[in-house]
Amino acid sequence: MKEIAKKVLHYENLKTIKYTHLATTITYARAIGEELGYTEEQLSVMEVGAALHDIGKSLIPPEILNKKGRLSDEERNTVNLHAVLGYELLKSLGYGVNVAEIARDHHNPLSKNPMAQIVRAADIYSAMREERSYKKAKSHEEAMEVLKASRVPQTILNALEKRYGKKTVTMPIQNFSVHAAIA
Ligand SMILES: [Fe+2]
Ligand SMILES: [Fe+2]
Repeated sequence: MKEIAKKVLHYENLKTIKYTHLATTITYARAIGEELGYTEEQLSVMEVGAALHDIGKSLIPPEILNKKGRLSDEERNTVNLHAVLGYELLKSLGYGVNVAEIARDHHNPLSKNPMAQIVRAADIYSAMREERSYKKAKSHEEAMEVLKASRVPQTILNALEKRYGKKTVTMPIQNFSVHAAIA
């Protein structure tokens, strides 16, 4: 990873990241952070990290990143390097430790960085709620099941539930049957 400066940046790789995915990942990360009492300053840092979480993909050979069909184990390992490459790239560009660690840990369920944990959850939640060419969008409930199975911490699950779960609807349904009876 020391030779990051010598690596070629493939900006075109970043086109593989849907901007709607980045936008919603930022939105969900902010929502979780707000629920957890983050300050505006912390939220801004986390938003930058969310926006740049996959920047390391620009350092992966395009022929591997864009390969159609099954990747070999070696190719899969290469693609997985995008997280740590993003970390090195962001550090070399002078970004702070949280932004860099968000990129490094956005696929790591054992991350010790709470912001990275939040962005990881937001990233998965966004991917689940989004329609892609190969899959339908999942409901909130279905997405939450995936997050649980992905070992997202309970505090983050609670925050997402509070923000995006079904709100309790209080309707004056007691009158309905009366009206119906009269009609
Ligand atoms: Fe990623
Ligand atoms: Fe992502």
